Amino acid sequence: MVETAVIKTKESVGENQIRGCEVRLDQVSKHYIQGKEQVAALDKVSLEVKAGEFLAVMGASGSGKSTLLNLVAGLDKPSQGDMFLNGRAISGWKDKQLTLFRRQEIGFVFQLFNLIPTLSAEENAALPLLMVGESRSVWQPKVSDWLKRVGLENQRKHYPAELSGGQMQRIAIVRALIHHPSLILADEPTGNLDSKTGDQMLFILKEITEDLGVTLIMVTHDPMVAAYGHALITLKDGRILDSAAR
Ligand SMILES: Nc1ncnc2c1ncn2[C@@H]1O[C@H](COP(=O)(O)OP(=O)(O)O)[C@@H](O)[C@H]1O
Ligand SMILES: [Mg+2]
Repeated sequence: MVETAVIKTKESVGENQIRGCEVRLDQVSKHYIQGKEQVAALDKVSLEVKAGEFLAVMGASGSGKSTLLNLVAGLDKPSQGDMFLNGRAISGWKDKQLTLFRRQEIGFVFQLFNLIPTLSAEENAALPLLMVGESRSVWQPKVSDWLKRVGLENQRKHYPAELSGGQMQRIAIVRALIHHPSLILADEPTGNLDSKTGDQMLFILKEITEDLGVTLIMVTHDPMVAAYGHALITLKDGRILDSAAR
């Protein structure tokens, strides 16, 4: 079945225009201990993603891609080096500050969608709003607009088990954006989709993030996918092997 997603651009966004988050890493390393050995999951990585840019991250399994996203999300701390979000060094932030920043400013899209099976599509999409205690009368219209935007208005009461992979990932994209974050982190968001559905998903993600001015950092194995980025880095053994700007 071919899924067609309805994408409404500029005019439907209006006042929701968001500024993107600027991300900078300065000689960042992350070491893990595995048995008796120390592994450099990231090794002196420096990079800059400007507000509203889309950075694609490639590299073989184990090259440090997820570690990079975890650090940017503040889910993990660098062993060395410093990271800056909107020009502010996050090494000095307290955990509470990081958690708050993450909740308000970051949206995640994962390979495995991570939808909650016992919640409907609209409740899954509204999760970041449910978590801050927004009432149904407030979140429902917001979610409804977004579901229309990604062509899923008729599926809003469906449970994840009743949705296709592409539909689940569209819900996950809405969930990542519903609270107006300034940074989207996507870890192989198309990894579990067939290539056509994956392409549509990327198109949606790219369109929406560009439209809103949100910064997007996306990990992918697929060079075709990476070609959508404004910039591309390839990691190998925790180092930037190659980088290209477009
Ligand atoms: N929590 C951890 N503890 C120990 N080693 C880890 C941990 N997370 C990642 N690593 C190691 O760091 C390296 C990079 O992992 P990861 O960032 O997950 O790579 P990728 O996402 O590119 O597959 C791998 O060698 C992995 O085994
Ligand atoms: Mg990974």
